Amino acid sequence: MMKLSVYYSKLANDFKLCKPAKTYSAMDKAYFLERLIFPVEVAVQHNRNEKNHKGEQLSFTMDELCDIMANTSLGSPYYRYVRIIHLIFKHKYSPCFAANYRQKLQTLLNSSINHHNPTKVRQYFYQSCTEFGFFFTTDSKNQPFTGLPLSYFVQQCSDLFGPKFNNDSLNTGVMSTNAYYGGFNVTGSKIIFPNGSFDPWHPLGITKDISKDLPAVFIKGAVHCADIYKQKDTDSAELIQAREKIFRILQKWLKQ
Ligand SMILES: *[C@@H]1O[C@H](CO)[C@@H](O)[C@H](O)[C@H]1NC(C)=O
Ligand SMILES: *[C@@H]1O[C@H](CO)[C@@H](O)[C@H](O)[C@H]1NC(C)=O
Ligand SMILES: *[C@@H]1O[C@H](CO)[C@@H](O)[C@H](O)[C@H]1NC(C)=O
Ligand SMILES: *[C@@H]1O[C@H](CO)[C@@H](O)[C@H](O)[C@H]1NC(C)=O
Ligand SMILES: *[C@@H]1O[C@H](CO)[C@@H](O)[C@H](O)[C@H]1NC(C)=O
Repeated sequence: MMKLSVYYSKLANDFKLCKPAKTYSAMDKAYFLERLIFPVEVAVQHNRNEKNHKGEQLSFTMDELCDIMANTSLGSPYYRYVRIIHLIFKHKYSPCFAANYRQKLQTLLNSSINHHNPTKVRQYFYQSCTEFGFFFTTDSKNQPFTGLPLSYFVQQCSDLFGPKFNNDSLNTGVMSTNAYYGGFNVTGSKIIFPNGSFDPWHPLGITKDISKDLPAVFIKGAVHCADIYKQKDTDSAELIQAREKIFRILQKWLKQ
């Protein structure tokens, strides 16, 4: 629909766009699609129903997203997805849905830190541009989204940090990172590698013991970073056992 101008007014209506889609730049269009993917990104990473102090919806669990996507009374899958977008974004920013790439840049270009409410988005983006290349692209065939090729993110590296941050510097950066840390062939000693089977990042981690001194703690059903959050009543037995195992290993190492 984003590719065909006949759909622009429908998109404007359905998503309550702040400005007409016909005025969108190529980067605005990609940013629009990036924002549409956001509720799924958050659900698969954190699998959490989160509301803010005003009771506004910030995220859903995977089951809740699937329930909405399977609910035929909301109309076609397109309208079910529109519903998700409204539930997540209705309150979040402004009364309309903005996909203004320049605005996104302006925010990320600001390097001053609000010490009462520090954010890490710019720093994380810089690390992604220079060390990791951790971008949420739609380049894989094994997912349903489209419109966010790697080049969309590399363009942002250039726009934010200057033209020397490009494809080549990204490739070189990722290769040096893997060379420095060893990639999957980590050397070193006394490193624990926790991970979770529900964490979409787990293919980037070590999920099997390398040696007694380099153990993996792969937690069934655990989501992104689950192991480093403080314990909750709703934590699974697997997660609780994993934290205990990590604690035991650390105790042992600290006594050596
Ligand atoms: C489907 O959506 C409608 C309208 O929001 C809601 O009333 C109903 O409970 C939903 N059904 C299921 C099975 O979630
Ligand atoms: C940059 O960020 C700081 C701290 O959050 C804020 O006080 C300031 O208004 C921002 N500047 C601009 C131009 O947005
Ligand atoms: C990076 O390479 C892709 C093709 O692989 C190209 O389309 C894109 O323009 C390049 N981006 C930058 C910022 O150099
Ligand atoms: C890691 O080791 C495997 C074989 O054990 C090898 O195929 C692979 O290239 C190595 N990777 C790195 C990043 O050194
Ligand atoms: C799994 O490993 C990846 C890559 O190191 C990391 O980003 C992620 O936080 C790990 N997940 C968990 C649940 O620890």
